[in-house]
Formats: sequence, C-alpha cells, structure tokens
Amino acid sequence: MTTTIKTPVPVGDDGDEQLSNLSSNPHMQEVIKSRYSRRSLLQGSLSVAALGFLGASLPGCGSSSSSDEPADEAPPEDQTEKPQLLGYNAVPVSESDTVVVPEGYTVKAFLALGTPIAGTYPSFALDNSGDDQGMQVGHHHDGIHFFPIDGDHPYEGSSADGFIVMNHEYVEPRFMHTSAVGQSLSRNNVTVLNEDNEREADEVLKELNAHGVSVVRVQEVDHGDWEVVPDSRNRRVTGLTPMDIAGPVRGTDWVKTRFSPNGTMTRGTLNNCAHGVTPWNTYLAAEENWAGYFRNSTAENSDALPREQRRYGVRHAGQTSRYLWENANEDPELNQQRFARFDVGATGDAPTDDYRNEPNAFGWVVEIDPLDENHTPVKRTALGRFAHEGVVFALVEEGKPVVCYSGDDATNEYIYKFVSAQPYYADTAGGHLLDTGTLYVARFNEDGTGEWLALVYGVAPLNDAGGFTSQADVLVNTRAAADAVGATKMDRPEWGAVNPKTGTVYFTLTNNTGRGEDQTDPANPRPNNRWGHIIRWDEANGEPASTRFDWDIFALAGPTDDSEFNGEPLNDEQIFNSPDGLWFDKDARLWIQSDISESVMNTGDWAQFGNNQMLGCDPENKTLRRFLTGPIGQEITGVITTPDQRTMFVNVQHPGATTTPDEFAEGDINSRFPDYDNNIYPRSATLIITKDDGGIIGT
Ligand code: FEO
Ligand code: CA
Ligand code: CA
Repeated sequence: MTTTIKTPVPVGDDGDEQLSNLSSNPHMQEVIKSRYSRRSLLQGSLSVAALGFLGASLPGCGSSSSSDEPADEAPPEDQTEKPQLLGYNAVPVSESDTVVVPEGYTVKAFLALGTPIAGTYPSFALDNSGDDQGMQVGHHHDGIHFFPIDGDHPYEGSSADGFIVMNHEYVEPRFMHTSAVGQSLSRNNVTVLNEDNEREADEVLKELNAHGVSVVRVQEVDHGDWEVVPDSRNRRVTGLTPMDIAGPVRGTDWVKTRFSPNGTMTRGTLNNCAHGVTPWNTYLAAEENWAGYFRNSTAENSDALPREQRRYGVRHAGQTSRYLWENANEDPELNQQRFARFDVGATGDAPTDDYRNEPNAFGWVVEIDPLDENHTPVKRTALGRFAHEGVVFALVEEGKPVVCYSGDDATNEYIYKFVSAQPYYADTAGGHLLDTGTLYVARFNEDGTGEWLALVYGVAPLNDAGGFTSQADVLVNTRAAADAVGATKMDRPEWGAVNPKTGTVYFTLTNNTGRGEDQTDPANPRPNNRWGHIIRWDEANGEPASTRFDWDIFALAGPTDDSEFNGEPLNDEQIFNSPDGLWFDKDARLWIQSDISESVMNTGDWAQFGNNQMLGCDPENKTLRRFLTGPIGQEITGVITTPDQRTMFVNVQHPGATTTPDEFAEGDINSRFPDYDNNIYPRSATLIITKDDGGIIGT
C-alpha cells in the first residue's frame, strides 16, 4: 500500500535552500550616503512621502523625473533622445489562471512537460514510465535558449528553424505519478511504499529523467505556431547522463567515487535553474539547489558533515533527502548504484567504495553542445561550486579574456566572476577556455565602488594556514573561500544580464527576509527585504576583466509605497516583487521576471502583485511596464527570442503549485494550465509570443 511521507519537509517552502552561510563576514553595519544608488534611494523615500497626496496621478511609464544630484557623481549622460524601446500598453496584475499579454500580441503554449521529443516519441500520459520520461520534455521549465539551425552563432541565423534547449529545475511528484492520485500531498511530498520510506524504483527513475535539460528541434509552421521536428540531435540530458569533469578538480581525490575511481566522470545534472550561452554557441546548465538531494547517512548531525557538504546544506542522518531517491526499491548492485548513490555516507572502506564524494560532483556549471549529439556534457569546475543560478557572459572581444558572471542563490551568498587565462579568438574558442582562469567574488564597497577578490590557492588566506590545500580545494569549497576573502553577503543573487549596447552588468537580488535591521549595507539596503532589488555595475575602464567596478541600485522592487525606479516609486503598471529571471534582447530591452514564492503568493501583502509576471524595461529611457502575467501558482522564468525578435519563448514553471494537500486529494487543482482539461494536471510549458502585426516583441 502506498502511504504519504509526513516527515519534515527537507527543503524550504519555496524549494530554496536553507541558510548555510554561517561565516562571520560582516554585514556592513551602517548605511552611509554613497553614490547614485544611495542618492536614488533617498529620493525614492521622499517620493514615497509625496505619494500619499498624489496617489495614482504620479507619472507612469516613460516619466522623466529629473535628478537634482550633482552631475559629477552620476555617469555622463548622452543628451540625444533615444528611441523608445517599449511600445505596448501594460497589462494589469492578475490572479486568473491564464496567460495575459498586451493587446496586439498573441500567446500559445508549446513543449509542455511530457511532450515527446526523442527515441520512440512516447505520448504524454500520467502513467508514462521512467523510460518514457527520458524521451519527453522534462518538468519545471527554467532557463531557455533558441539555437538557430545554422549553428554558427547563438543569436544570429534562422528564426524559423532551430533547437530549443531548456533546463528542468525540479519536479513536483504529486503531479507525475498515478500512485499520488487522491492522496493528501503537498508540492514537496513524495509517495512512499512503506514505513521505511522506500520508494518505487520506476517513480525514482521518472523523477531523475524529468530533471536536466531538453534539446529539441523546432520549426515555425506559421507565425506563432511551431512544431517539434524529429532529429537525431533531439535528446534529454538527465540526472543520470554520464558527464565529464573538467578543470582543476578533474582527477583529484575530491571527486573519486565508486563510479569513477579516477575522478574524471559523474552522472547527471540536477536542479538546473538558469542557463548560460557561450560565445562559441554551446549551452550551459547551472546547478542550483542540488545539495538537498543528498543525504549523508553516516553523519549524525550537521557538525559531523565535512566542510564541502556542511557549507552547502547536504542533509545529515537526522534529516531526509529531498526526494528520497536513495531509498528506491532497486537492488543497489544494479546499475552501479544509480539511486543508492544519493546516500553519500562513508559506508565503504575507501572513497572509491562508496559515494561520499558524489556531492562534490554537483554545484558546477555544465556545458552541453546541443548541435553535437555525441557530445558528453562537461562540468566546468574552474567556475566554482555553489548554488549556481545561471551564467552570463560579458561582451567578448578578440584577443581578450572570456569573462562570465554567476550568482549563488541562497540567503547571504555571493556574486562571482570568472576570467579566462587564455584570450578569446572566435576561430578557436571553445569550452577549454573555461578550464583555466581566475575565479573572483564580489565585494561591494559603501562608496559605490567594488572589487573582485581572487580565489586563488596559495594567496593568503587561501593557503594551508587558512585551511586550503590546493586550487581544487578552493573550488570545491568555493563558498568557504569567498567567506575567507571577505565577499559581500547579498540578498539571494539570481539571474544576471549584460546590456549589449553598454556592457553594464545587471543582477537580480530576489529577496532576503533574513537580513536584520543592523545587517543592511548600501548594496543590500533594506532589512527584511521582502521584495528584492536589481543591482548593476560597470567594470573599470570598460574592461570586463577589471578587478574594480562601479555599482548602483537599478530598482527596488515592491508595492507603490515601498519601491523605487528612476527616483520614483513603482506605479500600478510596474509593481513587481522577487525579481528572478533577467535578460537583455539585442535592442537592449531588459526583460524582468518574477518569482514570488508559492508559500506567500496571492496572500497578505503579496496579494497586490497577483500571479508571477514579466515586465519589459528600457533602461536608456527609464521606462518599465508589465508585459505578461502568468497562470495560478507558477513562476515566469526563462526568456529568449528568435534572432529576428519576432517570436519570443517564455517559460511557465510549476503552475498549480499553490494547490493545498487537501485540494489535491479532492482533485480540486487550482490551475489547469496549459491544457485546461480537468483530467490533466497542470504542466510547465513554453509560451510562444508573437505580435499580431509581425513586429518585434516589445514594440
Ligand atoms: Fe532556481 Fe534561484 O531560482
Ligand atoms: Ca530562478
Ligand atoms: Ca527564484
């Protein structure tokens, strides 16, 4: 008989990892007047005071409020008028179970989970097997890119034929197994077989195969209408796919396991949130909240976990793993312990007898060549090990290093930058550029300057006296290394985006309700930061590889009485909170996506924001306007256009996740997106958005 596990849910309510930064790095104690960011914050406060009188008559999008601050502190302004990038009328906030786009636009769902894309192309059904799932689109769509079929450039080429490559961040087991039907299950519960919490092996296989990345060829049939095209390159990369380990950690003791005694390989990628696209036309899948998938059965408590597990939140023996995969009812000697490996206790005589080092093979950025079906995915360890939200590249220049940025999305974690040792040349560029170089972590100074602090073994404090024995040690323990050099604790760094016109780097900081009154700093200025903000910086001398930068706060998200953009509070057409997805299109429109946690969505002070949404922003003209609202329970995450910018793909993740356990048991599911069929559970899907006049999206 199937029963429901009622043990404490191991993940945070919204699937995010728990706080595990217990370092003594100081939060800067005092908010002092600093550069533009601080100035605009103060202005925002004054505007908020005025709002009580002005109410809704405040200027909306496109308002050009003037700054009265000294020009010598602000970046030089080009006085010539810039063409307006946003041409649509804002959509209102929404609580409906629909996708709403502006008038003159059309939206259609595509590539819902379970869509057959490879192998025998099994049709979607709730009773699909684990093997079926490995030939279908996975769950919980996230980062996405469209690779034109031409195969030469990630942003140029066909706008009607190419590969969609996208991440599948995690799974909601109650919506994927027939055994769950009728049970009282939350979004975080799993179905189990017995009191020992054993799990059905094929359900575990299905969940592993629903993770990872989809690579699928798609063609435009008509404007706004696309179809899957059979192609030998269509494939699923999953939680089981063999992968190479490259960079400084390859072959070291840190990653030797029973599966790979020489430490050169591992299996699978997990919790792929946002992504990256390399200048050489490959895809990067970031591994975000991977730690909770592993349980160390031989560590009695957190203190007994080794540093490389404790600092990331790997579960100890007193806790349960996220999906209990290690409890699958499969003979562990089969399939090289493909499920049992999620018990990462030191159960054998030596590391090559067990999987104590398995978590050290996770927390990386994984490179996938979508156009080469024989390519083995590669974990690029030089980019560091943490809860990688995604990766974004600085503009490349011939003969100069390749530079990319990645945020560590957990409370009070850091923002990182990698600078390649070898210069970039388009003719020879490839993944090897990501194997040698310098990893830096950001320190945001109070005066609006910042520094990139190198994480290099041998340079104090990252030496033997400081508790580090090699560069591989520094990388496996990236968070500990960043603690040691004094990086700035941020309000949960999510996506980054680089303005293609200016090179300015933007990062979302989604929220941080754990930041205390005495823990604010100018870069994270709000205590109990419920709404999040967007920070940006320019590298010194316009060189991405610089070790210094100038930063400011681009926007403080929140309601009309607690927010700021361009010196004004956000208005009704602009309010958003918990910014997450972020992407610049080639015209330098900035697309901002929100991820209000399921635990608070549509409740209390969060209700005014409605369902999760996407906004368009023109940073040059300081305009910001809501473009899309999604269905119930989901987050909007992942956005890309075709090279001609006339088709946009946007992902909808976890619709219906706010359905309560009792509602689930009753079959009263609060979203039926995208099928709107009461016999089909809600499914993550990709939206196809077009403009009815065939124009560029956003105009
Ligand atoms: Fe997976 Fe940090 O969002
Ligand atoms: Ca995210
Ligand atoms: Ca998020």
